[in-house]
Amino acid sequence: AMRIVSGIQPTGNLHLGNYLGAIRNWVRMQDEMPADGECLFFLADLHAITVHNDPAMLAANIREMAATIIACGIDPARAILFRQRHVPAHAELSWLLNGTARIGWLNRMTQFKEKSGKNREGASVGLFAYPVLQAADVLLYQATHVPVGDDQKQHLELARDIATKFNADTGTDLFTLPDPIIPPAAARIMSLRDGTAKMSKSDPSDASRIALTDDADTIAAKIRKAKSDADALPATAAELADRPEARNLVGIYAALAGVTPDQVLATHAGQGFGSFKPALADLAVETLSPIRDRLLTFRADPAELDRLLADGAARARTLAAPTLAAAYSALGL
Ligand code: TYM
Repeated sequence: AMRIVSGIQPTGNLHLGNYLGAIRNWVRMQDEMPADGECLFFLADLHAITVHNDPAMLAANIREMAATIIACGIDPARAILFRQRHVPAHAELSWLLNGTARIGWLNRMTQFKEKSGKNREGASVGLFAYPVLQAADVLLYQATHVPVGDDQKQHLELARDIATKFNADTGTDLFTLPDPIIPPAAARIMSLRDGTAKMSKSDPSDASRIALTDDADTIAAKIRKAKSDADALPATAAELADRPEARNLVGIYAALAGVTPDQVLATHAGQGFGSFKPALADLAVETLSPIRDRLLTFRADPAELDRLLADGAARARTLAAPTLAAAYSALGL
């Protein structure tokens, strides 16, 4: 049976990249899931503490993120939506897998290199071991598929390496090797200020991203001010290779419209950004305003959100228990 598992860090600033690169696909998979399959989506709150956080802010972000995911279309009656911290098996399995993962493998993780920057020696051990917890997140549920954006592909490959080595070391076939599902059109939504940097929750510039909480005027203003160039749009996506900002805006349009960049250019070739940007803004507003409206409703009832998350966690704990027990036993513990 199909088992889909994915997570998101509750770090606030949920943006268009998260939506187009991940959450929209979560919703699609939930909607298309056959009756014998299961979708599990969680807030990676244990991952969030690998960098410094203000505790009050983190607590608020967790609820806000849960409300946003539901507003995007995840239905807690069909998908299992929960907080990682409420299922201790994630942390337990992560520790067991720390015995399997190799330092050399983690040294190759580009996200650690990016996030630790020049201060590697000062980075937390948690930031370094982060991909092992991520492997535990999916292996714990015998995930068959993991929908993520392009930036998480390397972490998923590591999860497969860890699963393969654990199975080989223990002479079992305990863990299922999960396949990543990466949406082709929206795999990497870039910053509105820099077409070579990914749109990110941690970018200090609010103008670099479209937040799912932005109202119509804010979205239009951010797109109007987005970095672009003075040339007209070409007839094919291949001709955008050296124009990162133009390529990004066409890519966002394509992802929102559910078509390829070439199809966007088939109708917009010859246009300058003076006319393309308003069309893009309309499309973004059309997609995001219903989400924002629902978010405002869910936000108003934090007790109900907490109840939904507690219910999701109870279901997740039940599914996690057999694999965790089998992992302990495979190791002789
Ligand atoms: P996070 O919280 O950074 O991002 C959540 C999801 O959004 C995708 N994404 C993007 N996609 C396209 N363009 C972008 N600019 C963009 N920015 C983010 C990410 O690829 C991701 O799918 N480590 C993970 C969370 C995690 C996880 C897991 C994911 C923890 N455990 C287990 C899958 C399975 C993270 O920090 O994602």
